[in-house]
Amino acid sequence: MSKTIKSPRPAARTARHPSLITSHQSPITNHQLPVPSPRQRFLDAAHCKPTARPPVWLMRQAGRALPEYRALKQKYTFLQLVQTPELASEVTLQPMRRFDFDAAIIFSDILVVAEGLGQGYQFRDEGGIEMDFLLKSAADVDRLNVAALPERLNYVGQALRLTKAAVGDKALLGFAGSPWTLANFMLEGGGVKEYTKAKALFYSDRPLFFKLIEKLSLAIANFLHLQIDAGADAVQIFDSLGGVLSDADFEAASARWMKQIITSLQNRVPVIVFSKGTHGNWNSLVDTGAQILGVDWTINLAETRARLPEHVGVQGNLDPFLLATTPEVVAQETRRILHEMKGRPGHIFNLGHGVPPNAKLENIESLVNTVKDFK
Ligand code: CP3
Repeated sequence: MSKTIKSPRPAARTARHPSLITSHQSPITNHQLPVPSPRQRFLDAAHCKPTARPPVWLMRQAGRALPEYRALKQKYTFLQLVQTPELASEVTLQPMRRFDFDAAIIFSDILVVAEGLGQGYQFRDEGGIEMDFLLKSAADVDRLNVAALPERLNYVGQALRLTKAAVGDKALLGFAGSPWTLANFMLEGGGVKEYTKAKALFYSDRPLFFKLIEKLSLAIANFLHLQIDAGADAVQIFDSLGGVLSDADFEAASARWMKQIITSLQNRVPVIVFSKGTHGNWNSLVDTGAQILGVDWTINLAETRARLPEHVGVQGNLDPFLLATTPEVVAQETRRILHEMKGRPGHIFNLGHGVPPNAKLENIESLVNTVKDFK
């Protein structure tokens, strides 16, 4: 005979854990609920369902802050690491062995899409990116080959498949740059102090701008489908340069193309839009259809939670600089953010941008432990 279960949780919660509805169980209390897998915790938060504590991962969690990454860089170039599935998978897993993150993000780069379209790039020995040539004319845009991309970027799919098998019960994330952010790099030829060329094209030759951004949007959508086919549980779109646009033009130059991509993904997996410096544009961001909005560290989360519709999740937003301070400071600021978001379903803990190269490992540890212990 089954006993009636008086769950303190809403019915929806019990229904998602059917194993709870068994015989031989006395009325359960919160702390007796089975702990969901990290992947399930991530997906629950991504769908704005309640979780006992937020899932946690960090943008750029793989990379220069880790000695084992720097050791691999002695043997291989950045592009070899990105383009060799076994190596990309290894770099993806490095931070997962050290830290108890709920999600891994595949080690790759937003510029692989430029390469997949025929515009290659190099990573300079002294640091920084250099494209093999610049997009300068309509003919350069015409030459970008959208049809060739899935074959050329097959290595990303393979890296995801290898990683999926190794990552166990953690979530696995794929990603791409936003069309606007990618266009900036492809027109400038790499990272620059001030991004002007994409803006110049947007204001002075709108038809050519549209031609480029439409191609990029299609390529990025295909690329994200490829990553989902290969096992990505969710994908993030990095709109890291959204903030160089005025509020008035953000929708036309960036948001509507992200919306086009998200529409094409047809809710196959949750989509996170991380847009930096653009939060005067809540309406355009919500209108992209992203399930989760990643917010940078300048944004007040209590205000964010009040503004966003309940079905939209929030990811963020510890100041990455803090990873260079002390474990105590990191714990204190992490707790502040957790308290601001407490009781708001749909919070994924992250930084407000990527892990900086000077991050101390004990500080990352402190961040993760503080989130894990939060009640
Ligand atoms: O988050 C992760 O751990 C996954 C890996 C990842 C990288 N790049 C690896 C990388 C991700 C998600 C990116 C995204 C990316 N790449 C963005 C958007 C996010 C952001 O940080 O704003 C952008 C703008 C790029 C383009 C890019 N890649 C630049 C401008 C540079 C050179 C400057 C720099 O940060 O080093 C890169 C190189 C790069 N991509 C490194 C890593 C780990 C550094 C490589 C090294 O020093 O060994």
